[in-house]
Amino acid sequence: MSSTSGKTNKVDHIFQASAVRLDLWRELNATAQTWSAHVRAGKPGEGRAAVEAALAEVLPLEGFFAYPGMRLLQTLAERIADDDAMGVARLVLRLSSALLSGSYRYDAGQWETSDDSSARVADRLTFSAEGGERRRPYFETLFVSPAPVNKLPEIAHDIRLLRRSEDEMVYEPVLVGNFEDALLGIILNGKIEAVVIYDGIPIPSQHESSLLRDFLATHEHLDTSNLAPREIGVTLARAIKRVRPELDIYLLTDRQVEKIAGDSAAAMIRRVFYEVEELTEVHLNVLEGVADRYSTPFFDNLKHYAARPIATFHALPIARGKSIMKSNWIHDMGEFYGQNIFLAETSATTGGIDSMLEPTGNIKVAQEKFARAVGADHVFFVTNGTSTSNKMVYQAVTKPGDIVIADRNCHKSHHYGMVLSGAQPLYVEAFPMTEYSMYGAVPLRTIKQALLNLKAEGRLDRLKMLTLTNCTFDGHVYNTRRVMEECLAIKPDLLFLWDEAWFGFARWSPFLRPRTGLGAAAALEEWRESPAALEAYEAQVAELGEDLDPNDARLLERRLVPDPRKIRIRVYETDSVHKSMSSLRQGSIVAVRDEDYSEHVSAFREAVFIHASTSPNAQIIASMDLARRQMELEGYELVMGAINIALTIRREVAAHPIISKYFSVLGADSMVPAEYRGSGFKDFLTPGVTWVQAVKAREEDEFFLDPTRLTLVCGTAGYDGTAFKNLLAEKYNIQLNKTSRNSVLLQSNINNSRSDVALLIKVLLEIATEIEERLASGAAERKAFAAQVKNLMEDVPDLPNFSRFHDGYRENPASVTLEGDMRSAFFAAYDESDCEYLPMMSPQIDERLAKGPELVSANFVIPYPPGFPIMVPGQIIDASTIGFMRKLDVKEIHGFNATRGLKLIKLSAIPGAKTAKVVKKAKVVKKAKVAKAAKVAKKAKVATAAKVAKKAVAKRPAPRKRK
Ligand SMILES: Cc1ncc(COP(=O)(O)O)c(C=O)c1O
Repeated sequence: MSSTSGKTNKVDHIFQASAVRLDLWRELNATAQTWSAHVRAGKPGEGRAAVEAALAEVLPLEGFFAYPGMRLLQTLAERIADDDAMGVARLVLRLSSALLSGSYRYDAGQWETSDDSSARVADRLTFSAEGGERRRPYFETLFVSPAPVNKLPEIAHDIRLLRRSEDEMVYEPVLVGNFEDALLGIILNGKIEAVVIYDGIPIPSQHESSLLRDFLATHEHLDTSNLAPREIGVTLARAIKRVRPELDIYLLTDRQVEKIAGDSAAAMIRRVFYEVEELTEVHLNVLEGVADRYSTPFFDNLKHYAARPIATFHALPIARGKSIMKSNWIHDMGEFYGQNIFLAETSATTGGIDSMLEPTGNIKVAQEKFARAVGADHVFFVTNGTSTSNKMVYQAVTKPGDIVIADRNCHKSHHYGMVLSGAQPLYVEAFPMTEYSMYGAVPLRTIKQALLNLKAEGRLDRLKMLTLTNCTFDGHVYNTRRVMEECLAIKPDLLFLWDEAWFGFARWSPFLRPRTGLGAAAALEEWRESPAALEAYEAQVAELGEDLDPNDARLLERRLVPDPRKIRIRVYETDSVHKSMSSLRQGSIVAVRDEDYSEHVSAFREAVFIHASTSPNAQIIASMDLARRQMELEGYELVMGAINIALTIRREVAAHPIISKYFSVLGADSMVPAEYRGSGFKDFLTPGVTWVQAVKAREEDEFFLDPTRLTLVCGTAGYDGTAFKNLLAEKYNIQLNKTSRNSVLLQSNINNSRSDVALLIKVLLEIATEIEERLASGAAERKAFAAQVKNLMEDVPDLPNFSRFHDGYRENPASVTLEGDMRSAFFAAYDESDCEYLPMMSPQIDERLAKGPELVSANFVIPYPPGFPIMVPGQIIDASTIGFMRKLDVKEIHGFNATRGLKLIKLSAIPGAKTAKVVKKAKVVKKAKVAKAAKVAKKAKVATAAKVAKKAVAKRPAPRKRK
């Protein structure tokens, strides 16, 4: 490992482990082909040294992978030693191609030392599919054994001999000899699905790897210096689970297996075996564990269903496809989609299909498996996207009058969720990124202040939930654990809804998982049980007292510690499975980790009944089942790949001399203001930045940037976001995510390849070159270009904040907190006679802004981009919102009809509000009253004065009679 250590301390190389390996093999192949060319050209002395050097680079990583394995590598070394340049070239070409294509997983010939790929060897037995039998899934199992190195090939051979022809899958063993190499193995090799640990393994690695050192340095809980030998196996199991919780772990020991099995500290171990007698059992368990993740109960059943000769006397004529395949007019539909989709379409909830609304069979099991995969207690499948998942959560856990603290900038489903449930939004503002016309995320200080204000005003009991978007559209990731800890310190039973529509994939990245809602919930549960938790809380009590004073300014300045004995961990996470995993569009989940969920069980059933279609799409459900299978088996590797792609795009754009003149991808330092990056982390690609620094930022910083979300600034190339998005789509067949005034958002995904990156870079270069040429054509062009860039990059409108709800929609208009009854305002607008319209550019708007009466929005107004509601029902529309709307040059504004103008609620329709007439009348009445009162007072004053005078006169001592 030493030879690669200089490279691996860079952050991107940690994410690039598998790409780096393939690159090293490509390099070896290039040197091998060059050497053979030299030999053919009669220069046998040239090229061998380069091959040896390249092989030396490759070798240190190879111990962690089954293929090509020591036998093939030994053959390679022998051919080099024999000066067999042609043989080396042939073998290296075969090995690197097999690695690249993955053919070694099913083609036994790829494992042969001979170049004749038709040969077979005894110990490979039934490795691949023969004679038309289906291809058996392949994986690798890590065996961590204390046996001497020279015994390892023998052990591997014994393991292979356990294979049986009836095994559903096939695995290759990878053998390592110590704790540290085991960790390296599961970090580097994404094909590993199970780990078998022999008790008694030593700790230190033989490899001098900075990757390992960096990794261990960022996991201080992995301090192995004082471990007793008997603790090593269980500690390793725990460490592995932190990195890859999906792996099955087995422990082989000659100690008291029953004791270990009964120890809750060893709960993450799937089975404990008595070492000397159980190798076949281990083999069967390894297969069974992976088969359990592989099984997709709903999809498996749907396949069986589709294969049955079923006649339907039910709705859904496309089921079975007969009306399509036989049609004169739509048979191309059948040709396009293929027959299976119709055979698998059904309206049935019987015959083993199960019901989405009342699942008791395979949908129930599929949901349970998904819950296990994401670390939740329950998962609900939703076939109408996270838009519906969010509404279901509001429906299930909030009721009219409850207060929900919500990012005003969150997805519209949250706002509508509150309209439906009657919960009152207390909007909090994200930090603005005005120069890019977008918002960041909500600072924790703002959230705490909202909670403390409610406490100060005696309404904390009404607060039910905090909703945040994690990560935001543009990639801002919250410090989920810290947010929950500090909020729970103020309100110990607060519920959290983490909208992770975009972030579902993060579960499978050990780097990002701690920042997911569910990842943080697990960490919080662990923390709560530790003695350190109570100590920290008691230290805080000594300083701040037990009942936090909401007016104590220190509460905003310091990290608050909740009482570990009182807090309830109540986390809901919604994920658009379709946005980052292999589900069909609209596949989404609600994941629940709420220890008081029993309070909401029946409400949740209602929420499902209210929101779920009674005709859910079977293909969406099946695809979610499959997406879960995929992520549990290869999510780790795929997500690493997606992050690697994103880092590659960032690096290539920044490094290219022409592209970088006009385009840039914003780093963490541009996306997150310095005050929220306490660790000082700037960006993944800042020269010299290490994995340790990246992990420190992930752990400590208030906001962290999801590397897979790339804001590409195009305003500097003279394009507004929408124009650039259209250009890429129409001319270059490149689809992007969202746009802002001067940027577009690219998202790397588990399906992206390096070819996609190459295409993007090629296109950016083409566009940048065109700009160069245009600018070279004359001063007028340059002037126009500069003006356009200035317009896009500098003349940006200020982003409007949420003003407030009209007093008529607030219980206590004098309250500091701004929650309001949005639902009543929403329904007030249903009666057109209670509404009025004012054209956006009309002077009346300016007049009313200046003199009143107030403008009250009748509905949500959501421009795309930026895509957040700049007006909600019942909101007072202020000058900044009007200014923003007038400057907006986007075509799509939901809730706004440009011809009719702004829809407003008439004041006469607002409870307790005064219309202009009433106000005028009131003014007159008041004037009259005041005048009358003044008169009366004057009269009274006069009378009183007279009285007083009279009294005074009366009281005056009688004048002394003069003598
Ligand atoms: C933050 C957020 N939440 C929820 C949704 C809705 O998700 P879906 O498209 O799955 O309905 C979106 C969609 O873009 C979103 O951005």
